[in-house]
Amino acid sequence: TGTAVRRDRFSGGPAREFLSSLAADAAIFEADLAVDRAHTVMLAEQGIVDSAVAGDILAALDDVEAAGHDALPDGEDVHEAIETAVIDRVGPDGGRMHTARSRNDEVATCIRYRLREDLLAAAEATIALREALVDVASEHTETVMPGYTHLQPAQPTTVAHYLLSYEGGVARDTERLLDAYDRVDRSPLGAAAFAGTPFDIDRDRTAELLGFDGTVRNSTDAASARDFLAEGATACATLATTLSGLAEDLVLFSNKGFVELSDAYASTSSIMPQKKNPDTLELTRGVAGDAIGEATGTLSLLKGLPRAYNRDLQRAHAGVFEIADDVREATEVAAGAVATADWNEATLADAAGEGFSTATGVADLLAMGGMPFRTAHEIVATAAETVSDGDSPAAAAAKVDEATRNVTGEPLSAHVSREDVESALDPAASVASRDSAGGPAPDAVADELATAEAGIEAD
Ligand code: ARG
Repeated sequence: TGTAVRRDRFSGGPAREFLSSLAADAAIFEADLAVDRAHTVMLAEQGIVDSAVAGDILAALDDVEAAGHDALPDGEDVHEAIETAVIDRVGPDGGRMHTARSRNDEVATCIRYRLREDLLAAAEATIALREALVDVASEHTETVMPGYTHLQPAQPTTVAHYLLSYEGGVARDTERLLDAYDRVDRSPLGAAAFAGTPFDIDRDRTAELLGFDGTVRNSTDAASARDFLAEGATACATLATTLSGLAEDLVLFSNKGFVELSDAYASTSSIMPQKKNPDTLELTRGVAGDAIGEATGTLSLLKGLPRAYNRDLQRAHAGVFEIADDVREATEVAAGAVATADWNEATLADAAGEGFSTATGVADLLAMGGMPFRTAHEIVATAAETVSDGDSPAAAAAKVDEATRNVTGEPLSAHVSREDVESALDPAASVASRDSAGGPAPDAVADELATAEAGIEAD
């Protein structure tokens, strides 16, 4: 046939492997079958293809699906191979399946169909992680721990407040993934090569059959656009970046003995028998690098592409599917690691007061007694030069008293009571005092927990 001759002429020769996306197209095998079915049903409903022929094509597609991607005949891509497999089963009438469409709108539809699943799976994983963070947080609203800035002891906080800080970040990641989903969820099918078709097709119908929330209307936009891939990759990379921070913290906290991972989320050494390493978290941290690379790579590939279809686009999607999968897996692993880790309350309590971490609270106390905050800051900074981790609250308060006299010429008792200063030097009391909205005091955290739970429920 003319088709066979023509396909023979453009079969690729030495560039055949390079041209073919068939292997990578395994990721869109199911999507292509769904697209073929929807298109065939629409062609029959519109009277473009005879119902009996459409029935034969649909039966052939079932057969092709049962045989699987690996059983497909050779072809430049999955679209061509499935069409060939259908024609093999139905005869030349099988070639009617490709009426009023092109591989350009076909592949764009397949990519969106597949990416929807990936984004939803990643979003679901974020919700499970948020649940784990909230569950563990609710057990540790009173577990005092050191908080850091610049990796230096800064102010005491609680494990609950720390974990909820990540719940907030991951909640925005859920939002970004679902937002990206909404823009992916539009059908390009029926755009044909880019310039539409003279056949009386019903694009809304194929969109409906494939579960899309409408169409990408302009046919050139529909066939060309891959911005949704960049957006999906970026949403995944942003999530992976959030995860990498959590993973890094937990690696550091494991190192300090603040937290112990469950054995299921740790690994050992092939030579050093005593080792228990936080490998799952390190891999989670590592996934962020790949995800950022994928987002950057996608934008680089798309940059400067002219309208309408260009074959560069064949290289745009497979990596995005892979990274969405990797990030989903990393999210699930992070959720498991968080849910099963043990927080060492005694070690955390000891560390919470280290490095004069309650200094800000003492300055706040002086300022609440009426002193300008800058003066209070200077007094406590002066005391900080001599306060050391071994000091009792009374000894540290005495140093604050001395610093007050040096800076203001008045005793500490002219401003606040010695007992209040000693209390402010206690990490747990320091945390309890910081009850501003969103702060770490157990009362404030109770509100944050309720808000987080409601957000998870809503998502
Ligand atoms: N395998 C191709 C892709 O993924 C399908 C589109 C081919 N279209 C074309 N005009 N060569 O982009």
